[in-house]
Amino acid sequence: METIAFMNKKGGVGKTTLVANIAAMLATEGGKSVVMVDLDDQANLSSIFVVDTDREPSVSEVFRNKTYEIQDCISQAVLKGEFIDNLFIAHSNIGLSQAIREMPGRLNIEKRLIKSMENLDVDYVLIDCPPSGGEAVLNAIYAADKVVVPVNMGGFATNAIQDVLELITEVKGYDSTGEMLESEKVVFVRNKLDKRNRAVNKKVDDALVPINKYLASSVCRVASKMDHAIMDDMPLVLHDPKSELVSDIRSLIKEVF
Ligand SMILES: Nc1ncnc2c1ncn2[C@@H]1O[C@H](COP(=O)(O)OP(=O)(O)OP(=O)(O)O)[C@@H](O)[C@H]1O
Ligand SMILES: [Mg+2]
Repeated sequence: METIAFMNKKGGVGKTTLVANIAAMLATEGGKSVVMVDLDDQANLSSIFVVDTDREPSVSEVFRNKTYEIQDCISQAVLKGEFIDNLFIAHSNIGLSQAIREMPGRLNIEKRLIKSMENLDVDYVLIDCPPSGGEAVLNAIYAADKVVVPVNMGGFATNAIQDVLELITEVKGYDSTGEMLESEKVVFVRNKLDKRNRAVNKKVDDALVPINKYLASSVCRVASKMDHAIMDDMPLVLHDPKSELVSDIRSLIKEVF
């Protein structure tokens, strides 16, 4: 089983989009069993794949009650009323932050998620993080074999990168960000690339030079039909399989997974 967390303290960079599409592709094209864990109380990921996100137990229960395992709150993913083979989700809802804040026995709080996953047996666990460095994110990093950090090809792209590196270094117990990076546990992925924006792309690429070695060579292009897919409650890989972004995601999976 490989656990991959999608995190960036910066919001709107594509964490949820990549989890939804990579998970759907791994399950439907790759025949892999995949559990998505939604650790964001915005519940954007859950609202794509779960009919009733208010239903309990949700992932909040794992933090509220130490006898709960992640399996207890997992359901099979549903799209347009149909179950998707191999694809499962531990859904969240608005109660998650409070559940984490009030977690009993807060010592080692970052270890709660991984403990709840001890008996889980699937090919992949993909964790969608909220845009913060809070306790949910510490749990995700602690549980992850690898952390994927999406970076927007636009303004402020590189703002949170140093923070992200320091956070992962601390949670994983490395002495320095350099040592952590050498462990190849972190991959940065450029998202929302619009090839027409040459000047902006060059600026972002220049700013990313210090982490070039840890940058996926697969780049995710901006998809014009993303809003249609969202309105249709479908991940793009199933809504518009011919999209350029879908082939980018396929390359990314080959490169990183
Ligand atoms: N490659 C892409 N092409 C087009 N639109 C995209 C792409 N990636 C993400 N988006 C859009 O950008 C917006 C933000 O994406 P998303 O919600 O995945 O980011 P996030 O990092 O999960 O945000 P948050 O930090 O709020 O959780 C969404 O409207 C999404 O549809
Ligand atoms: Mg999100």
